[in-house]
Amino acid sequence: VARTALIFGHTSGLGRALSERLLRRGDTVVGIARSGLSQEFSGLTEIACDLSQPADVEAAIDQIRCERVHFDLLIYSAGTLVAHEIDALEAASLVRLYQVNLFAPMMIESRLVDLCERNGADVVNITSSAIHEYYPEFTEYATAKTALAKFTDDLRRRLRPTAARVIEFCPSGFTSEMYSRMEGQKIVRDEAVQMRAEDVADLLVSVIDLPKNIEVGQIYVNRK
Ligand SMILES: NC(=O)c1ccc[n+]([C@@H]2O[C@H](COP(=O)([O-])OP(=O)(O)OC[C@H]3O[C@@H](n4cnc5c(N)ncnc54)[C@H](OP(=O)(O)O)[C@@H]3O)[C@@H](O)[C@H]2O)c1
Repeated sequence: VARTALIFGHTSGLGRALSERLLRRGDTVVGIARSGLSQEFSGLTEIACDLSQPADVEAAIDQIRCERVHFDLLIYSAGTLVAHEIDALEAASLVRLYQVNLFAPMMIESRLVDLCERNGADVVNITSSAIHEYYPEFTEYATAKTALAKFTDDLRRRLRPTAARVIEFCPSGFTSEMYSRMEGQKIVRDEAVQMRAEDVADLLVSVIDLPKNIEVGQIYVNRK
């Protein structure tokens, strides 16, 4: 059965790999990001939105509530990486990171939870293995992801009596643009040794495809 998926951050990395997979098999994807890809893919519609701007987030939510109420899946894969040591945090980039990585998904899922309930739509939030590790430059990122993990857990409990499943997907490093676009301290990592975003996307899609009475609520994926 073809599905309609809302994918935040569909233009790059994991969100793009997920979008490609779903589109290839005939699902409808509504992608939400600042840039666009619609010339490259049929079956893709897009909402231009800067998730670091609360007014943009509200406008995107309003558009979904007007035009896209019948979705079956919501994946929040947008994210940004900022790196500073603990003695060098910067207020402006801290706020921007929290807005994109935490406040936006909280507001989006808060305002769409009634539709998730009505549609039995699954919700996936991407956290990070940084929650469980100690990376000296990633305290801003790791704390925002930790809060997102708790929010995801609360949302799962809130939706437990419904058909909607809620998944915290917590991977370690996979290929993407995240490091090339990072703010603050520049950290270089070898993309060649990371997990492939396409393989990580396959794993997540296989979990979503399980029968609806199986909820894999938390998924931890490590690169060997
Ligand atoms: N890559 C890793 O090793 C890794 C590991 C663990 C967890 N994660 C998490 O996985 C998720 C996916 O990240 P990725 O690695 O695939 O990153 P990516 O390649 O940098 O892609 C990020 C996506 O988020 C969108 N985005 C970023 N800032 C935005 C903004 N202000 N407004 C709207 N959209 C915005 C980008 O779209 P536009 O630029 O078009 O706006 C893009 O589609 C993130 O939550 C990340 O924290 C990544």
